[in-house]
Amino acid sequence: MRIFLDTANIDEIRQAVRLGVISGVTTNPSLVAKEKHTNYKSAIQEICRLVPGPVSVEVMGQEAKAMVSEARELSTWHPQVVVKIPASPQGLEAISIISKEGIKANFTLCFSLNQAILGSLAGATYVSPFVGRLDDAGHDGMELVAEIVAAYQRYRIATQVIAASIRHPQHCLEAARVGAPIATVPYKVLLQMIGHPLTDAGIARFIQDWRQAQEK
Ligand code: E4P
Repeated sequence: MRIFLDTANIDEIRQAVRLGVISGVTTNPSLVAKEKHTNYKSAIQEICRLVPGPVSVEVMGQEAKAMVSEARELSTWHPQVVVKIPASPQGLEAISIISKEGIKANFTLCFSLNQAILGSLAGATYVSPFVGRLDDAGHDGMELVAEIVAAYQRYRIATQVIAASIRHPQHCLEAARVGAPIATVPYKVLLQMIGHPLTDAGIARFIQDWRQAQEK
């Protein structure tokens, strides 16, 4: 299983990369807007330099033609850029064009197995089911991830599932249990994944015992 970081914050990315467990980054317009980068293109290029893997960058166009031209432009920014395209008819059309040109797409805002199947048929490299947003709407987001993983395995579909809209560590371990090959997590959740009170207590106890032994 691989872990991507779901952020456009360069400091968070730098710190997470130091841990040696991050193999990609996903951004979206809301995450980027929060950071107020003075130069968007340079910020994405810096993220690509920091991260050893794919960096998803979302198109803003609504029509297939606009999505395609944005995707072509974004893909020139850095070889690691993966273009994020929403799960709409226009998105499918755009992906079916750019995938033939070798541009990698992340089919985002995916909320159903039908969308995931169509995204893979159009040629998406990744599909991103949004777990937390489905949970918020009263559904079981992880059940969708499990369904997509099972369907892709059954039909030997190469599109990779990214469990997205991850809100807490429980989501991460459920994603692992249902066989999601990738989960994209906020920095806060990444730290929660490694944190455990028994580890902290254990370290404190070892230090205390060691010190006491030295004093004898
Ligand atoms: C994924 O690619 C999205 O950027 C992200 O996971 C959305 O998460 P949210 O639903 O917490 O905004």
